[in-house]
Amino acid sequence: MSKAIVLTGITTTGTPHLGNYVGAIRPAIAVSKDANVMPFYFLADYHALIKCHEPAKVRQSSLEIAATWLALGLDTDNAVFYRQSDVPEIMELSWMLTCVAAKGLMNRAHAYKAAVAENEDGGEKDPDKGITMGLFSYPILMAADILMFKANKIPVGKDQIQHIEMARDIAGRFNHIYGEHFALPEAVVAEHGAVLSGLDGRKMSKSYNNTIPLFEPEKKLRKLINKIKTNSLEPGEPKDTEGCTLFSIYQAFANPEEVAHIRQRYAEGIGWGEMKQVLFEHINEHVAPARERYEALMASPAHIEQQLQEGAAKARAITVPFIKELRAAVGIAPIA
Ligand code: TRP
Repeated sequence: MSKAIVLTGITTTGTPHLGNYVGAIRPAIAVSKDANVMPFYFLADYHALIKCHEPAKVRQSSLEIAATWLALGLDTDNAVFYRQSDVPEIMELSWMLTCVAAKGLMNRAHAYKAAVAENEDGGEKDPDKGITMGLFSYPILMAADILMFKANKIPVGKDQIQHIEMARDIAGRFNHIYGEHFALPEAVVAEHGAVLSGLDGRKMSKSYNNTIPLFEPEKKLRKLINKIKTNSLEPGEPKDTEGCTLFSIYQAFANPEEVAHIRQRYAEGIGWGEMKQVLFEHINEHVAPARERYEALMASPAHIEQQLQEGAAKARAITVPFIKELRAAVGIAPIA
């Protein structure tokens, strides 16, 4: 039986936070331990340019994300761990896909529609104001990431499901025109409410600036957890776990018995101050060993770079021959 190909990427525009960890990194690392799986994990640095025009930030984020995955115990013998920009065939494929992807399909992308809606709500005359072609074509580059490796399963957060469906659509269109070159990918969404709430109760996201960095030093972690928004119920008053940010974060890091216990404490009226303390201790204990490895890795970037170069070589052993096949399929080939 051939191995299932699992692939996922993280855009290099920020510091990995608890939401990234729960929604994407943790399930990806768990899957990487499955001998029936061939995992491809990468730093989506060309995706970063869509949202971020600060070179130092893109670079720093690449370092932090790579260190994070390695610190969390990614097995780079089994997994192919690389940087998107080190595999130029992906960009080439992105153009081939751009030439078969329907513009109407891109018009329906949530990220693009949200940007247009924001302009319209703000009374802008031009609904596309400030929207780059990078943002508009974002799902096509993502499709190229996935289709390049004939990936079957894509572990992502809920917000990315539409992009995987678009990749399927584009793959089908290409296959229809040029023959069966691509496998059709499927999204795999983590359980435990894969979308984590942030400090203000909205989805934890770098764009909302409400994140808790995964490897925040202990003191700062405590401070951030203390900042999480709660309602004004007093200690002793029974509290609802539903819609409670503290509870939802706790739940993402706890086993069913621990969750049942905390549910009970809510019913009994645990105070918010105490619950914050419980949450801090729980998360801190969970991340402490990996945080130590992270700090050591951040101090030796050359070691990280070496790992990425080895990953790129493994990736290109696949992409170089495949892009040759695809070029021939579309009619880009030597004439003699
Ligand atoms: N768009 C994804 C995100 O923002 C990152 C990403 C880029 C990705 N290419 C991918 C995820 C391919 C899965 C597969 O989270």
